[in-house]
Amino acid sequence: MLLHLLLAFGCAVQSALCMPAQSPSDTVDAGSPTSPWGPSGTPHYPHRKPLTIEELQARQPLDGLPSNSNVTLVYAALGIGHQNYTCNGTAYVQSKTGDGASALLYDVTRFLEYNPRETKRLAQDCNYAACKYPQILDNLLGDHYFSALVEPTFNLTRAEPPRVLSAVKTDAVTPNPKNVAWLFLTANPANDITNGLKEAYRFDTYRGVAPASCDEVGETVSVAYTAQYWFYD
Ligand SMILES: *[C@@H]1O[C@H](CO)[C@@H](O)[C@H](O)[C@H]1NC(C)=O
Ligand SMILES: *[C@@H]1O[C@H](CO)[C@@H](O)[C@H](O)[C@H]1NC(C)=O
Ligand SMILES: *[C@@H]1O[C@H](CO)[C@@H](O)[C@H](O)[C@H]1NC(C)=O
Ligand SMILES: *[C@@H]1O[C@H](CO)[C@@H](O)[C@H](O)[C@H]1NC(C)=O
Repeated sequence: MLLHLLLAFGCAVQSALCMPAQSPSDTVDAGSPTSPWGPSGTPHYPHRKPLTIEELQARQPLDGLPSNSNVTLVYAALGIGHQNYTCNGTAYVQSKTGDGASALLYDVTRFLEYNPRETKRLAQDCNYAACKYPQILDNLLGDHYFSALVEPTFNLTRAEPPRVLSAVKTDAVTPNPKNVAWLFLTANPANDITNGLKEAYRFDTYRGVAPASCDEVGETVSVAYTAQYWFYD
């Protein structure tokens, strides 16, 4: 009874999001109509058919990055962490050990199949400060860090099977200077750490940009950021 009253109140407030009346057992099991997550933790939109992974791949925003049509999407991830920079006397750069990104990667493949519009904005909607879909944070996939040689590394320890990409930046575009660049990353030919992946894209970036200038050599800053990383084989 109380649940019904609460749902009725929610529907009055957010009528556009409400679904037709359901039996009490449906209502309890399906979770909130505004939530994409069902009882098992699987994204759940009763009236929508999810995209296939091929359809999801075709929706990846590129904004000038090279085509992804010759590779196969294996995981779509959300990265939340920070970018470290060191001052070289005039600008903050990422060239020394300890510089670069450090982020946790969450598996959002299924989430995006059910919520394709989020391919353009998930990094804003679930960012380092506030996440509209907190269940995403239960789906850890691995982590992203820079090696001692300042090589971007993605360690997908929870992928099946686990996968690693040691990458080089092959292309970059900057759709919005308030956010770090979008990147096309390919396997680093200088080492053999990579396993089970060929490429990755960083896009839909949110913040992470260093202050415009600096004057104290060696001074470091750490700037929070969020981005989507899609991994291809
Ligand atoms: C796929 O095509 C892109 C763009 O032409 C190219 O840069 C990339 O190296 C290719 N990837 C593979 C794995 O062949
Ligand atoms: C610092 O880095 C910036 C950007 O890469 C570069 O333009 C500048 O010449 C560098 N300054 C010094 C002192 O190395
Ligand atoms: C980046 O900076 C943060 C905060 O200073 C620090 O905790 C972290 O260890 C640094 N990351 C790396 C890779 O050194
Ligand atoms: C990936 O993480 C695992 C578990 O922490 C670790 O054993 C392994 O050395 C890491 N791989 C790379 C390439 O850093």
